[in-house]
Amino acid sequence: MQVKSLPEDPLILFRQWYAEAEKVEADPTPMTLATADRNGRPAVRVVLLKGFDERGFQFFTNTESRKGRELRENPRAALCFFWPGLLRQVRLEGPAERVSDEEADQYFASRPRERQLAAWASKQSEPLASREELLQRYRDYEQQFAGRPVPRPPFWSGYRVVPDWFEFWIGHENRLNERILYVKQNGQWTRTLLHP
Ligand SMILES: Cc1cc2nc3c(=O)[nH]c(=O)nc-3n(C[C@H](O)[C@H](O)[C@H](O)COP(=O)(O)O)c2cc1C
Repeated sequence: MQVKSLPEDPLILFRQWYAEAEKVEADPTPMTLATADRNGRPAVRVVLLKGFDERGFQFFTNTESRKGRELRENPRAALCFFWPGLLRQVRLEGPAERVSDEEADQYFASRPRERQLAAWASKQSEPLASREELLQRYRDYEQQFAGRPVPRPPFWSGYRVVPDWFEFWIGHENRLNERILYVKQNGQWTRTLLHP
């Protein structure tokens, strides 16, 4: 592969790969999200991609969770997709910002009512005495919001990771894999191949 044959904008390449992943994978949206606290201690977990465009890669969560706290302390994140059916990996890194309240409201409203209630019931990442406590909290909110739309909790929203670094990885025989690095500098993307 020649670097010149690759799109200048990594989002174009991501779109192509994502379209292929949609055909091959049962669900192409799970991605590993890495954050770190103010001391640089890293943490990873899987979240679901809920849209991507020029503005970044979106996911939704409880903003008081560990990841929410870490993104306040250190607003940078890394994401990693692995699509085994294609033997491809995409990594990206960049600052993470909160989506607007309007965007969060819109996405929250599109969720099934049961998941809206679960968002209220879960104090994500806090200790829980028993599963029964969670189910009781769910039932309490069910009653509280009976007969009316469930509003978005003030502690639930989305983040957008705005990539300034991408790596596209393609698996090949004998570990002679391909890696394509894109780095944004002064608003311009540069493309480089990397040794596998
Ligand atoms: C397939 C999969 C999808 C998930 N999607 C989300 C998600 O979109 N948002 C979310 O907050 N947690 C999601 N989770 C749960 C997270 O992995 C994690 O357990 C939770 O967000 C708490 O993480 P934290 O304590 O680091 O904040 C998902 C887990 C799995 C396995």
